[in-house]
Amino acid sequence: MDFLTALLERVSAPQLTGPDITNEQLEVMIQAALRAPDHAWLRPSRYIAVRGDERQQLGELFLQATDNYQELTPERQAKIRNMPMRAPLLLVAVCRIQEHPKVPREELLLSTGAGVQNILNAAWAMELGAIWRTGDLAYNHQVKEGLGLSEEEEIVGFVYVGHVNCRLKQPPELKTEDFLTSWQAKNQ
Ligand SMILES: Cc1cc2nc3c(=O)[nH]c(=O)nc-3n(C[C@H](O)[C@H](O)[C@H](O)COP(=O)(O)O)c2cc1C
Repeated sequence: MDFLTALLERVSAPQLTGPDITNEQLEVMIQAALRAPDHAWLRPSRYIAVRGDERQQLGELFLQATDNYQELTPERQAKIRNMPMRAPLLLVAVCRIQEHPKVPREELLLSTGAGVQNILNAAWAMELGAIWRTGDLAYNHQVKEGLGLSEEEEIVGFVYVGHVNCRLKQPPELKTEDFLTSWQAKNQ
């Protein structure tokens, strides 16, 4: 798919299925992520791939990290446990917060966010579907620890990737003029 077509037409795909994402496709997505802008080349981002049976282990971690999960209905517990099974590949986008005289924390997180966007676009360009999710579990200490994050690292997103298994929504047309203004200095 042409690059600009992918950029202009991408939508998120909430329902994803197999076949598995190939190593080549994964490589393209990660290389695209690594082309995200990165102030001072601090390389704050890394990505953890969760595939195959590991998704079930992640589901267990999600459940056990949920507050008072024992009190939830079996259906709700199953829903949480099955979250990672919603796609053949889940990429955990991780940002390492670090001190730098010119790069505030926000810019590190934005850089990883730009990496995630590159993953979404690369997936779409390869005719795969993807969606960026977070939720409470992205900010949960137990989940972060279970995934092997250090104290300095944050989860920026869970990116689900697979083959589209639903009708994709048609995004509403957004008019450029509603989002773009030309600044004119007052003294001109
Ligand atoms: C930081 C971030 C976190 C998000 N978390 C969730 C989420 O947890 N669950 C969800 O359904 N959508 C989440 N979304 C929204 C979807 O990724 C998606 O952007 C939204 O459904 C709109 O679809 P579109 O990308 O096709 O416009 C999140 C988006 C961002 C940027």
